[in-house]
Amino acid sequence: MLRKRGSLILGGTLLFVTWNAILVLLLWGRPPSGQSDNKPNREQRELDEGPAFDVAADVLRMADTFEAELELQKKILLQIQSHRSLWELPNRSGQKLAPQQTAIPILVIACNRVTVKRCLDKLLEYRPSAELYPIIVSQDCGHPETAEVIHSYGNQVTHLKQPDLTDIVVRPEHKKFQGYYKISRHYRWALNQVFKTLSHSSVVIVEDDLEVAPDFFEYFRSLHPMLKSDPSLWCVSAWNDNGRDGFVDPGKANLLYRTDFFPGLGWMLLKELWDELEPKWPASFWDDWMRQPAQRRDRACIRPEISRTLTFGRKGVSLGQFYDKYLRYIKLNSEYVPFTKLDLSYLKEETYRQEFENKVYSAPVVSYEEVKQGQLTGSGPFRLQYSSKDSFKVLAKNLGVMDDLKSGVPRAGYRGVVSFMSRGKRIYLAPPPGWTRYDPTWS
Ligand code: UD1
Ligand code: MN
Repeated sequence: MLRKRGSLILGGTLLFVTWNAILVLLLWGRPPSGQSDNKPNREQRELDEGPAFDVAADVLRMADTFEAELELQKKILLQIQSHRSLWELPNRSGQKLAPQQTAIPILVIACNRVTVKRCLDKLLEYRPSAELYPIIVSQDCGHPETAEVIHSYGNQVTHLKQPDLTDIVVRPEHKKFQGYYKISRHYRWALNQVFKTLSHSSVVIVEDDLEVAPDFFEYFRSLHPMLKSDPSLWCVSAWNDNGRDGFVDPGKANLLYRTDFFPGLGWMLLKELWDELEPKWPASFWDDWMRQPAQRRDRACIRPEISRTLTFGRKGVSLGQFYDKYLRYIKLNSEYVPFTKLDLSYLKEETYRQEFENKVYSAPVVSYEEVKQGQLTGSGPFRLQYSSKDSFKVLAKNLGVMDDLKSGVPRAGYRGVVSFMSRGKRIYLAPPPGWTRYDPTWS
């Protein structure tokens, strides 16, 4: 781009110099009398009218041309100026930044675990550009050793510290939930920093016990435009709640879904959503609060078949049982998928819903025993029907998928359907055809 601009200026300068040369030649080098025979009529007439008038007319004509030439030069320069802002700005590493790409900051929520190092090391290892993905580490809890670790990354990350370290007054029976109150307070503060103080327009939130996959940045970048343009979406998440080894199709690293369940655990939101949620942000349990109908408002998230985050935080605010039973087995994607180069239009709401329901409800109905004992014939997919909260729970538990519901929505579910692999076959755990809405009393 710089070379093109240079040649434009060079061209302009040459034109200007040439014009001046012609001017000088005409003024000083013109022949003493008008003997030229191929001059236009007007010039011939001027020549005939005598030398004084002749020179004056010439100069006037030249001045006119000169003025036009200057006007042209000005136009070219203005054009150069207006294009300059659109041109790629070279960054520090000498790479070009495509003009329309906005920065998507990564907000890392930290507290008192020095293992934030594992999270940061992976983010930095896979980050394709510091300009496009500034890493902001927000630390709560004032833990000096953790602060030290974060500090050791120097200017590769921005280190913010949540200033209010006081205990939160909670009702006596919530004493044991103090941690959840602090997490919620921290989230509010940190997101306000990102959107209000630092004026970003989107963010990907990562907790300090998450490790990211190689195509983590590529994944979020590719879905940023859809999140912006599609009001039926409110988040993009890196997490598949049923993403355990054996429950996902290892050959489908590029497969993405819509889900009505808010997965969290590495997720992107836009400033507009924060403006909507911030005034009513809850004092505790922010993630389950997000899953309530009043907040979700029927909006979906995009989630992958194979998770782009893995959680290694066994010891945390919640007890480790859930971790030992499910979370530790979640498979982290290892194959880089060039999402920004793929056609993701199949995720558009109307298209997606129709195709999804078609696939699910044209699949043959099978029984729990057939699935469990591996007696399914054919390649699938297959549909396993549930008709009540209890039948959902029994089937889910026995097949090893998450059996909990939040505000009536099963984990990773879309329109009541949970999609997973069992013994190498695709299973849809689905409500009867004609599903219309979730029942928030199912929990
Ligand atoms: C669980 C969720 C988590 C959610 C949290 C709040 C999983 C695996 N994790 O947290 O996504 O945010 O519930 O409902 O489902 N932290 C602070 N201040 C504190 C304590 C913790 O900022 O005083 C930070 C931690 O650094 C971490 C996050 O909050 O980034 C979650 O804490 P963690 O201890 O990992 O709790 P989980 O039980 O995993
Ligand atoms: Mn955790």
